Amino acid sequence: MRTRLRSRRALALLVPLLLLLSACASDAPQDTLEPEGPIARKIDNLVNPVFIIAAVVFVLVEFGVLYLVLRFRQRKDDDPDELPGQTHGNTKLEIGWTVLPALLLGFVAFATLATLFDITNTKDDGLTVQVTGQQWWWEFTYDTDGDGKFTDEDVLTANDLVIPAGENVGLEITSRDVIHSFWIPKLNGKKDAVPGRRHPLTINADEPGTYVGQCTEFCGLSHAYMRQRVVALAPDEFDAWLERQQDAADEPTDADAEAGAELFASQCSVCHLARGINDDQFEEAGQGTSELVSENAPDLTHFASRGAFAGATFDLWEDLDGDHIVEADEIGTANGGRLNRGDLEAWLRDPPGQKPMDPVTPDQVEAGERGRGMPNLNLSEEQIDQLVAFLQTLD
Ligand code: CUA
Repeated sequence: MRTRLRSRRALALLVPLLLLLSACASDAPQDTLEPEGPIARKIDNLVNPVFIIAAVVFVLVEFGVLYLVLRFRQRKDDDPDELPGQTHGNTKLEIGWTVLPALLLGFVAFATLATLFDITNTKDDGLTVQVTGQQWWWEFTYDTDGDGKFTDEDVLTANDLVIPAGENVGLEITSRDVIHSFWIPKLNGKKDAVPGRRHPLTINADEPGTYVGQCTEFCGLSHAYMRQRVVALAPDEFDAWLERQQDAADEPTDADAEAGAELFASQCSVCHLARGINDDQFEEAGQGTSELVSENAPDLTHFASRGAFAGATFDLWEDLDGDHIVEADEIGTANGGRLNRGDLEAWLRDPPGQKPMDPVTPDQVEAGERGRGMPNLNLSEEQIDQLVAFLQTLD
């Protein structure tokens, strides 16, 4: 009993200590206290003074309590039955402890509202991207045909939200199934993704780079594996990227990739589209799947131009030493990278084994049930190799 108590006490000391230490982590890509864009900096400029006020109040109150406890404690020769002198009413003190907190809270409220309005009124510099949350990945739609709507005719991508660095980029955040929440801590606050609603958010990254986040609203089995990344490119590189995304996929040339493309058309068209490769089969299958609650799976036309896959759970590229690559200017074979085959093959071998999902079986489909996520297609090792060879050509 006693040892259990002691170990509990040790735990009660250790856990806060570990938490405190973790706050000092140098490699913390989701640290909201280290903003890397003007909008996130406005939030940080609000957090700092409010934290200082709270810290000063905390220290004063704690020291005050300690002082009073010690100063007015019961002493040895005090009569335990006699009450100490009682104080009733002190106008100066009462006015003081009413007015001072009111002033402090008034300042905090003013500063908070000013920042909130400032951030909400930050307009985009011309580019708006639709962000759609789904179990368990994010889709990004760029209105490339300029009709003011986000449709399947526009550029669709997944996991990596590519933006031009140094510009205010508008987001319209929504969901196709349940409530998710979009947050890139270094670029702005978080915003819920709610089915049937469109929530605006503006982000801006100072420098080209990769900024990560994850879904912050519990959304089922793989909530923890629903990650999002913002890839900021230099403006001219962004234009080239968007241009390229509007092309159909290149026809594969080598034998393995050709076999992979055929396999892709026959096995994957119920859910996935690679424009220029399986348009007909995808159309035939009913424009995406009704087997999924969200009725939508990632467009894979430029799969290999992304830095991550499976809801950004796995990095798609590694360098020649096998270290994963996340920076946009390093990914792709042209930049000396190579595909992270290990994770990609494991994913194709057994997707629900790599990430908890709830796909439907053919019997359940018959019964009209809908699932979440990618099923195991029971591919042979040869088929997996062919698919990997093909997916690699989708750059
Ligand atoms: Cu999506 Cu949690």
